[in-house]
Amino acid sequence: MGQILVTDYSGTEQTLTYDDGDKLMEVLRDNGLVRAECGGMQICATCHVMLSPEAYQKTGPATDIEVEMLDGTGDYKADSSRLSCLIKLDANHDGIKLELGPEL
Ligand code: FES
Repeated sequence: MGQILVTDYSGTEQTLTYDDGDKLMEVLRDNGLVRAECGGMQICATCHVMLSPEAYQKTGPATDIEVEMLDGTGDYKADSSRLSCLIKLDANHDGIKLELGPEL
C-alpha cells in the first residue's frame, strides 16, 4: 500500500492511496480522475500522465508503442509522458508525483 500525489485537470493536487499490484490507471479511474476509455487496451490515450523526474525513473521509459500513441495526441513529453494503464504500482512507487496529461 502506498500514496501518490496527483495534480488533476483543474490543477488541484490530490493524494490517492493504492495497493501493491494496482495499475496506476485503475487508481486514477476509480477516483474519477481519468476516463480510461479503452480499459487499458493501450488504444485511447485518455489515461495519459506526466510523471515527475523521480517517478519516471522509478517506472521506466515509455515503450515505442506508447511514444507513438502519445505523440499522436500532440502532447507527448519525453522523459515524462506515460500511459498509466501500463504502470503497475508497488512499494517502490510510494510518494511519487504526477500530473494528468491534457484532457482529450
Ligand atoms: S486506458 Fe486507454 S490507453 Fe490506457
